[in-house]
Amino acid sequence: MLKPNNIVEPVIKWSGSKRYVAPELSKYISIQKRYIEPFIGGGAMLPFRQIPNALASDIIPELVNLWKQIQSNPTGVAQEYQTRWDRLQKEGHSVYYEVRDSFNKTKNEFDFLFLTRTCVNGLIRYNTSGEFNNSMHKNRPGINPKTFREILQKWSHFIKNVEFRKCDYRETLADANKNDFVFLDPPYGGTKDRYTKTEFILQDFYNELERLNSIGAKWILTFDGTAGNREYDFQLPQELYKHKTEIKTGNSPFTKSMRTSIDAVYESVYFNFQSNAELRSNIRKNVTQEFAFI
Ligand SMILES: C[S@@+](CC[C@H](N)C(=O)[O-])C[C@H]1O[C@@H](n2cnc3c(N)ncnc32)[C@H](O)[C@@H]1O
Repeated sequence: MLKPNNIVEPVIKWSGSKRYVAPELSKYISIQKRYIEPFIGGGAMLPFRQIPNALASDIIPELVNLWKQIQSNPTGVAQEYQTRWDRLQKEGHSVYYEVRDSFNKTKNEFDFLFLTRTCVNGLIRYNTSGEFNNSMHKNRPGINPKTFREILQKWSHFIKNVEFRKCDYRETLADANKNDFVFLDPPYGGTKDRYTKTEFILQDFYNELERLNSIGAKWILTFDGTAGNREYDFQLPQELYKHKTEIKTGNSPFTKSMRTSIDAVYESVYFNFQSNAELRSNIRKNVTQEFAFI
């Protein structure tokens, strides 16, 4: 298992990744319990908590298929990436658009991987018809296959105990019991999900949190908080959690890509239990609350 403070190279690049807060947050995950992560995305927490019993899921089928391949066949994934990458170097940009067309017809997970590694700013973006529509990132050739092969091997080991499922988060959480530890990193509160374009209904999500509280499962929830003067945050109803804090995660990829002045992004972190003092060293402000929901 990795020691907290190590930043790990991502195997699946995912905007909204919790890569920079994962080492800190992972300190609060109890390893005696089953670990459940129902919004897995790029899975930034996984290297830090290699719990023998873990369940990870996401709504995007090609993403979940890719995770399964990385777990069981890292050499094959490396080869699939290399084939596309070699063609891109030799034949140029048309290869990117050929792969993108092919992906939009078949949803092949290796095409998907290649697109995430070569598209503009690594942003996974679908149009309203569900087609991947981001362009190629000119002047960035995508990660070198040799380097990527090593990353794949490492991750295959990190995730060896994880069961991956393609399903809605509510289906995954229906399995949770009082011995489980749940890490929740849903799409932005109150917005359309930027990946799937489906509406993320907050009230449904709150109902799930309430249910987890009532059965005694522990959870940590992160929501992208504030960037500069703009508030992305919303207030989670106070009766649902016990402790709230904010962690600086880095700079906004949006202001970076717009080349405007760079905003710092803070992540709101909610706990349904009382966290210990360690986290407090890294926070900007810290609001501790006690509510009797259990
Ligand atoms: C903020 S991202 C998670 C990022 C992840 N923690 C990481 O480190 O990369 C949110 C994820 O929730 C997934 N998602 C959106 N709606 C969902 C739903 N109804 N059920 C399950 N997953 C969903 C998205 O596909 C996306 O991968």
